Amino acid sequence: MDMKASLKHNIVSKQAVVGVIGLGYVGLPFAVEKGKVGYQVLGIDQNPQRADMINKGQNYILDVKDEELKSLVDQGSITAMVDFSRVPDMDIIVICVPTPLTKNLTPDLQYVESVTRAIAPLMRKGQLVTLESTTYPGTTEEIMLPILESFGLKVEEDFYLAHSPERVDPGNQRYTTKNTTKVVGGVGTESLDAALTFYSQTIEHVVPVSCAKAAELTKVFENTFRAVNIALVNELTLLCDRMGLDVWEVLDGAFTKPFGIMPFYPGPGVGGHCIPLDPHYLEWKAKELNFNTHFIALAGEINRKMPEFVRDKAIRILNHAGIPSSKAKILVLGIAYKKDIEDERESPSIEVIRLLKMEGAEVDYHDPMINSFAEHGLKMNSTALTEETLKSCDLVIIATDHSSIDYQWLADKSQRVFDTRNATKGITRNRDKITLL
Ligand SMILES: NC(=O)c1ccc[n+]([C@@H]2O[C@H](COP(=O)([O-])OP(=O)(O)OC[C@H]3O[C@@H](n4cnc5c(N)ncnc54)[C@H](O)[C@@H]3O)[C@@H](O)[C@H]2O)c1
Repeated sequence: MDMKASLKHNIVSKQAVVGVIGLGYVGLPFAVEKGKVGYQVLGIDQNPQRADMINKGQNYILDVKDEELKSLVDQGSITAMVDFSRVPDMDIIVICVPTPLTKNLTPDLQYVESVTRAIAPLMRKGQLVTLESTTYPGTTEEIMLPILESFGLKVEEDFYLAHSPERVDPGNQRYTTKNTTKVVGGVGTESLDAALTFYSQTIEHVVPVSCAKAAELTKVFENTFRAVNIALVNELTLLCDRMGLDVWEVLDGAFTKPFGIMPFYPGPGVGGHCIPLDPHYLEWKAKELNFNTHFIALAGEINRKMPEFVRDKAIRILNHAGIPSSKAKILVLGIAYKKDIEDERESPSIEVIRLLKMEGAEVDYHDPMINSFAEHGLKMNSTALTEETLKSCDLVIIATDHSSIDYQWLADKSQRVFDTRNATKGITRNRDKITLL
């Protein structure tokens, strides 16, 4: 059997060993999916606590079921480690490490590069490497490939290399890794073939594109589409505020059209590891071609300004009640960047808190899913959400619309509520206490 036929045989018969590098929101659910269908999974994470927890069968990612991880670990299907010594044992190496931005909004590929450098000297013939991290078009071919080939192996002849962007939506119960269509691009036809074989074992629909760059651009475009549309409804919110109109009513009206429109909702800004960051990867790459991605720049500008609008409107609400912001006590409800998840990365709530503190306000937060956080110079613990807390605050700002909160109770017990998510839609009593974004 030739090299690729042997790899494909091992993939189909589930004898292949799957290596997953980076065991976070993307990597751990991926590792569990592969373990569940019978692969031996070797996970690598530079964070020793994470590796340790996995080896004890302890879960730290919401989308992973505790009992599934525990049973896979107990039966020896998933093992985690911090070092790369077992790379030669892996048939497939899947990279799921962070791709953040630098302070100047340029791509920070240090994690992708360091992992590629760590695996390159340990690679053997017949392996498939795939990058799942979101990145600009060209990363797989221009950054990873030269490093991987620098120890003598040739892509398409000795090993295979592909990009298949992860589309997981943390907290989404309907679309999981299994039933979310996956796009795959190889650096050549052999790589594409190997990667398609691998991904179609566990994913219902796998769609090939012509090259790794096309797969990279597909993912960045998807997130840009979201960022731009969110910016559009956020801008409409600013206009509605000036016009004295309720943006939520206008959007509800618009979304009754059964075609040619798609629901997007405003909010206090965008957060998470994707929407605020990924479009800037494309913006940066386009500059290499002397091309300005105007929509990305504009969307980023509008979305980043939303926390300031929230601050200004909060001050306005307090002023109307005769309370100067420097003497106000404010509770920010929700630190997660979106509802029902425990992730506060890039959350606009944090910026809202920072801005209100700059006004001299006393600000606490409550989040049913995040007990404490330390980000952007702020270190805070969640305050208990009690009747006393609500009564003692001049203003409660709903920044995240977690489903577990009883919003009618919140409105009943609070003095004033500023709802940036329309979480109080449908509640009937005490509506006069509520101001919408
Ligand atoms: N979180 C999402 O919703 C989501 C969705 C789709 C795509 N993505 C993309 O997937 C990638 C990973 O995102 P994430 O949210 O899983 O990140 P994460 O921070 O949750 O997990 C990344 C993991 O990689 C580990 N790591 C970092 N450097 C390493 C190294 N050199 N060696 C070994 N491990 C290392 C970290 O310790 C961490 O556990 C990013 O490119 C992101 O944009 C994320």
